[in-house]
Amino acid sequence: MVFLKNVAIVGATGTVGKFIASELVHSNQHTVTALTRDATAPGLPTGVHAVAVDYADPSTLVAALQGIDVLIITMASTAPRDTQAKLIEAAASAGVKYVVPNGWGVDASHPAAAETLIGPLLAGAQELTEARGMGWITFTSGFWYEFSLAGKRNWFGFDIEERSVVLFDDGRTKVNTSTWAQTGRAVAAVLAQDEAALAAKYRNKNVYFSSFYVSQRDMLDSLLRVTGTQESDWKIEYEPSAERFAKAIAIVKTGDFSAFERALYSRWFFPEAEGVGASAWQAHHTLANEELGLPQEDLDERTKYTVDHQKELMGKYGRPRHERTEPVRSIVP
Ligand SMILES: NC(=O)c1ccc[n+]([C@@H]2O[C@H](COP(=O)([O-])OP(=O)(O)OC[C@H]3O[C@@H](n4cnc5c(N)ncnc54)[C@H](OP(=O)(O)O)[C@@H]3O)[C@@H](O)[C@H]2O)c1
Repeated sequence: MVFLKNVAIVGATGTVGKFIASELVHSNQHTVTALTRDATAPGLPTGVHAVAVDYADPSTLVAALQGIDVLIITMASTAPRDTQAKLIEAAASAGVKYVVPNGWGVDASHPAAAETLIGPLLAGAQELTEARGMGWITFTSGFWYEFSLAGKRNWFGFDIEERSVVLFDDGRTKVNTSTWAQTGRAVAAVLAQDEAALAAKYRNKNVYFSSFYVSQRDMLDSLLRVTGTQESDWKIEYEPSAERFAKAIAIVKTGDFSAFERALYSRWFFPEAEGVGASAWQAHHTLANEELGLPQEDLDERTKYTVDHQKELMGKYGRPRHERTEPVRSIVP
């Protein structure tokens, strides 16, 4: 029997949140409520019920979370730092059983999380959830594949439009990376578990899963296949990941967030063994893919989707994603 029947989600119209909300609705096993600052905003997946909340008035959060079994937080990294803690405190007051904190990528327990300044945010949410007597589940997908490939050179290193790439080290370090659709399926599969299975396998744990285990070289080869281009059509540069990270994080520490993604991505590509990157989950953990019945996806099909939709993948904030100017407020006090 499904234990976490009533689901609340923050960010149901957001990038990853809409995939999660849709997958939960389609499973026909949950009621799905969106907690949102604007319940009339368009883009809510069919079957999701919206409730307006005001982060300045925590009683609205507690009221919206009454009767909810699990709270899923997918919140923009530009949201103020204390927003997530307000949600977790409200969830505890309302009797919520589990919280899925904001994270959706990397592993809070890895030293790279602290070095890229996101560790306290990720681990802090897990600790607060546990301290308030609820269980947490973190979905550790690695970087989002299509988004990161389209995201210009600060992300996976590619500029598809310009046909250029900067390869970190020799470009052969592999990492795990996932699609949004796979993330939605992973969340739905875990939330379909009964109470005992949740407690035994997922409570206060990372769920490591993946769509692809690839290096930048593999991504480039995929791009060559789907665009019908040759290596000679591309400008290929190299930069040691350690140097790239050191330069970028120094810029971030001055308060200039334009280098934030450059720091983040280069650090999680640090080679930890021959060809094995810091975010190569499958080198150190058992992936949950098989246990959760996640499908094998097609790398070239997703690469082609990225090539065909790069502008919309990059421009979800109405401006090119590589021109970040606003601070990542979730990680700065
Ligand atoms: N693995 C990866 O490659 C990767 C990449 C990017 C991000 N991420 C992670 O995924 C998380 C979610 O990212 P996303 O792109 O899905 O988020 P998003 O679409 O930018 O935003 C999700 C929701 O956050 C809410 N929000 C925005 N600004 C807010 C504010 N000032 N105060 C309160 N709520 C606010 C909005 O909900 P309402 O308008 O409905 O209130 C919005 O729909 C990030 O924080 C990050 O941890 C992972």
